[in-house]
Amino acid sequence: MRILKMNDGTPLSRLLPLLIAAGALAACGSDQSDAPNADATTADMPEETASAAEPTDEPTNGAVDDALDDAEQELEGEAESLADDMQQDAENLADSIGQQAGDTVEEVVDAAEQVLDDVAGAVAPIVAADGDACALAISAGDNIAYSTNEMSVPASCDAVTVTITHTGNLPAAAMGHNWVLIPADAAEAIGMAGMSTGLENNFLPADDDRIVAATKIVGGGESASVTFSLADLADGTDYAYICTFPGHWSIMKGTFTVSE
Ligand code: CO
Repeated sequence: MRILKMNDGTPLSRLLPLLIAAGALAACGSDQSDAPNADATTADMPEETASAAEPTDEPTNGAVDDALDDAEQELEGEAESLADDMQQDAENLADSIGQQAGDTVEEVVDAAEQVLDDVAGAVAPIVAADGDACALAISAGDNIAYSTNEMSVPASCDAVTVTITHTGNLPAAAMGHNWVLIPADAAEAIGMAGMSTGLENNFLPADDDRIVAATKIVGGGESASVTFSLADLADGTDYAYICTFPGHWSIMKGTFTVSE
């Protein structure tokens, strides 16, 4: 019978009063309308009477069937309700876990981005400083003099750029200046050799391998740059920079060093 399927675990305790009532009705052999008082009968009925409602092959009357149907429907309803609750709880839990996982991933990403920002912020000044250290500026005006007679770059520079600016008003033909990097002991030879090559050749001797780098000759208001690699400098050699405009090299002369 149907009751067998339902009759395991807790449902039994809920069914018991109904079974007792059904048993009483069956024992009376009458329908519910003839039962004197269902509650009173149930209260007086010993528990053993429940066995009267246990499965048998005998036909049962309509009242018992109705009672069993009601009990079954009630249990089914309760089971469905319980299943719905459990499903809702499971969905809530899944949502909660998903939300937490999402929050955690977001937090990790945020933290990682913050670290990257911090690193970039810490590195940027170093890179900028290093970049500036590899780009040197020097100037000269309407007299025979550089703005500085000492220049230095860090050995870490991949390339060095030197820019010379003429801050005066005199034209290049009258008071030209350039920046020429050479071995210090070659200053006189190169300065003298350049005198005769002319402004059009920037007063540089042709094909002189000792010249590491050189800008063109600039006049008032002009500037010029030259970029070279420190790899072009020989170890153990002192370097200097000079202006090769005729007569300037002995005065416009400075030391160029590479710092480790
Ligand atoms: Co000069």
